[in-house]
Amino acid sequence: MTAREKPKTLWVGRWGFILAATGSAVGLGNIWKFPYMTGEYGGGAFVLVYLACILAIGIPIMMAEISFGRRGRGSPIDAIRRLAQESGRSALWSLFGWMAMLCGFMILSFYVVVAGWSVAYLWKAVSGGLSGSSVEEMAAIFGANNANPWSLGFWSTLVTLATMLIVGKGVQEGIEKSVRWMMPGMVLILGIMIVYGVFSGGFGEAMSFLFAFELGNLSSEGLLAAMGQAFFTLSLASGAILTYGSYLPDDKSIARTTFSVALFDTLVALMAGLAIFPVIFASGMDPDSGPGLIFMSLPLAFQQMPLGTLLEIAFFFMLTLAALTSAISMIEATVAWLNQSRGVSRAKASWGTGILLWIVSTLAMLSFNVGADWTLAGKHFFDWLDYLTSRWMMPLGGLGMALMAGFVLRNEIFRSELGLSRTQHALWLFMVRYVSPLGILLIFIDALGVMAL
Ligand code: PHE
Ligand code: NA
Repeated sequence: MTAREKPKTLWVGRWGFILAATGSAVGLGNIWKFPYMTGEYGGGAFVLVYLACILAIGIPIMMAEISFGRRGRGSPIDAIRRLAQESGRSALWSLFGWMAMLCGFMILSFYVVVAGWSVAYLWKAVSGGLSGSSVEEMAAIFGANNANPWSLGFWSTLVTLATMLIVGKGVQEGIEKSVRWMMPGMVLILGIMIVYGVFSGGFGEAMSFLFAFELGNLSSEGLLAAMGQAFFTLSLASGAILTYGSYLPDDKSIARTTFSVALFDTLVALMAGLAIFPVIFASGMDPDSGPGLIFMSLPLAFQQMPLGTLLEIAFFFMLTLAALTSAISMIEATVAWLNQSRGVSRAKASWGTGILLWIVSTLAMLSFNVGADWTLAGKHFFDWLDYLTSRWMMPLGGLGMALMAGFVLRNEIFRSELGLSRTQHALWLFMVRYVSPLGILLIFIDALGVMAL
């Protein structure tokens, strides 16, 4: 008997794929990364470019990627190779599949560290370790949390283990079930915090920080960062959405799924911003405080809210779950590829990649303590993983996906996969042919121009 499995429809039930794709999309990107990057790049203009990129680049490319997956029925590498062959094109296009797979692995290598922060904070919330009366005290707690490589490594190892266990078993129903109640729960907690912000001050300032803009204020780097964040938050060009698409039954509408996932993902990110920035302004914290932003600000607010400790525990619990449902999607491409085209069993494939992941993520974790001085061009290893994937690999991969969908692969593939009306199809084609690629290229050229100076 061979361990090789035919890719089959893993999603059960009417909502299976939507829940899994939402689980992949909504995660640390929305609640941790979006707020701190918005703070770093000055607010409104960043948010506006981010939203424009979701609409003009992210959504059309997501539709293309799900189509690649479902029509090619396999990991990014295999699916793209099959579609290229079917279209009489070079199999070299599958290089974009390789890059996507690598990208998913690299993202996961730093993602488990941040998910580890979330578990650590869950533990601190339960055991009463998150009290402090000022931003400085909270910053000290965050700093102490990162300073010890043993405890920090313990948490990220735990996340790595959990991720690989779930992926190894291929237990999609578990994901569906947890996403089903976690997402509404997350929205509820964020909603409560927004209401709290309205009454306790800082809300008006947060609104104008997030939504008032002067485009001229956004640097070329901020422009590139906003585009990268759009890719990151929708799980694009990293193997996740394409591979999940390969398990999608034929009768589900790709367009409708894409719109609901993108809409919900955007909603959660904006709600996270509206929940967090009032606390930041009310406590006099600098919005440009970097990756620790939510960990240093939110516990302050939870402390003052009625039932705050309970809310805090629920929040970090759900954040951890949201991170896990995203984490498993990042490595699914690799495991699916090893399984389907190399004949490795799912269990072996996940142990193997898990060990590699553990090594790379441990190096990333060390960036916050013993490896703080191991920098290259001012960035340590953790930063490099994030920077390379979000700013360059995902947009470049997205460019490849758009060009393949727009020019390289037979258009009939997308006609039948997407099943849109003539006008809708023409609009989608116009987006993947011209709007998305040109948008990506312009932002790239702009960023390269600045670097060259
Ligand atoms: N979209 C996820 C988030 O916002 C991160 C992710 C990136 C997941 C790439 C899969 C692939 O947290
Ligand atoms: Na997201």
